Amino acid sequence: MLLRPEERTKLDGTADTLFYDFPRFVTHVDEGFIQQLTDLYGERLQPQTRILDLMSSWVSHLPDEMEFAHVEGHGMNEAELARNPRLNHFFVQDLNQNPALPLPDRTFDAVLNTVSIQYLQYPEAIFSEIHRILKPGGIAIVSFSNRMFYQKAIQIWREGTESSRLQLVKQYFQGVPGFSAPEIVSRQSQVPAFLQMLGRGGGDPFYALISHRIL
Ligand SMILES: C[S@@+](CC[C@H](N)C(=O)[O-])C[C@H]1O[C@@H](n2cnc3c(N)ncnc32)[C@H](O)[C@@H]1O
Repeated sequence: MLLRPEERTKLDGTADTLFYDFPRFVTHVDEGFIQQLTDLYGERLQPQTRILDLMSSWVSHLPDEMEFAHVEGHGMNEAELARNPRLNHFFVQDLNQNPALPLPDRTFDAVLNTVSIQYLQYPEAIFSEIHRILKPGGIAIVSFSNRMFYQKAIQIWREGTESSRLQLVKQYFQGVPGFSAPEIVSRQSQVPAFLQMLGRGGGDPFYALISHRIL
């Protein structure tokens, strides 16, 4: 196992279902981040393919002009997912309680995970599931910034730095035989940290790790 038990702990140890019980119709990152992510999706995803948006909400950040064969959504709040215009279907599941995705082997061309990876307590199991459901050659894109629901992020994430978090997600991929060495796309913030913390300046840093199922 990659993480030690204490590294998986959250400050708020109550069930995640309680925390996500009510919908949050907000965006969790700034416009610069979202534009960079949407551009990346436009470059790396193929139209008319099958996409899974894992840990989604009411927005998926997919390019408006791109049509897909199927977009499956997963998240914790039914009302958020029901309002997401890109999803053809969705399911609600607490991945910290049950990491097994109710999806068949080798059925998705792409799995996306946006600004959510810090909440997974058993990432090893989830990355193994992502690999299982991807078609050979399929792509996984995990993106994150420096914002988080602090009390719900795991200890190793909370206490890490932006570069240690990049290394951590890299290790999540490397822990599953059959993923290619992850490519990293990063844009550090140009805005001083104190302004970022105040949510000013439009300077959310952007990090994405991209890997393919090669085996
Ligand atoms: C910051 S939101 C990001 C939502 C969306 N991906 C976006 O880009 O706006 C974090 C998401 O992580 C998901 N999440 C948090 N804890 C979870 C858990 N234990 N099991 C499954 N999903 C979880 C929830 O669906 C929540 O919407």
